[in-house]
Amino acid sequence: MNKPHLIKLNKIGNSDLGYLVVIEESLNLPFKIKRNYWTISIPNNIKRGFHAHKKTQQILVCLNGEIIVETIDKDLNKEIFELTDPTLGLYLPPCVWHTMEYKNDAIQLVMASDLYFENDYIRNYEDFLNFKY
Ligand code: TYD
Repeated sequence: MNKPHLIKLNKIGNSDLGYLVVIEESLNLPFKIKRNYWTISIPNNIKRGFHAHKKTQQILVCLNGEIIVETIDKDLNKEIFELTDPTLGLYLPPCVWHTMEYKNDAIQLVMASDLYFENDYIRNYEDFLNFKY
């Protein structure tokens, strides 16, 4: 599905020992991961993002706290995902304008299909509206 959507990840364990959550190619990952990054020390209520990617696909996971992700796809459909559950990954296909608001000491893990390449970013909303996918 080429729209932003949530992927339920496998949780293994029990409440006595705790859990681990797995994302694995061929199991529940729609692309090969080339890069991972995560946020640290983001003050509460900060908004970041305000960009789209031309080719890169990503999965965002909120490991702690809350992240409110607003997405606008290439058909200009707007959606809001309130991420608080670390067993949910938010899949972002290419060409989705996204903004993240971080709350309650949020920590975000991102898995990306491509290496970092600034030329893959669309950082201006007008450019996003004019971008031919
Ligand atoms: P950016 O993707 O713009 O993050 P946010 O939307 O959360 O503000 O990245 C912030 C800065 O970090 C920007 O200068 C690019 C740089 N950066 C890298 O060098 N490598 C990476 O893998 C990423 C994701 C960002």
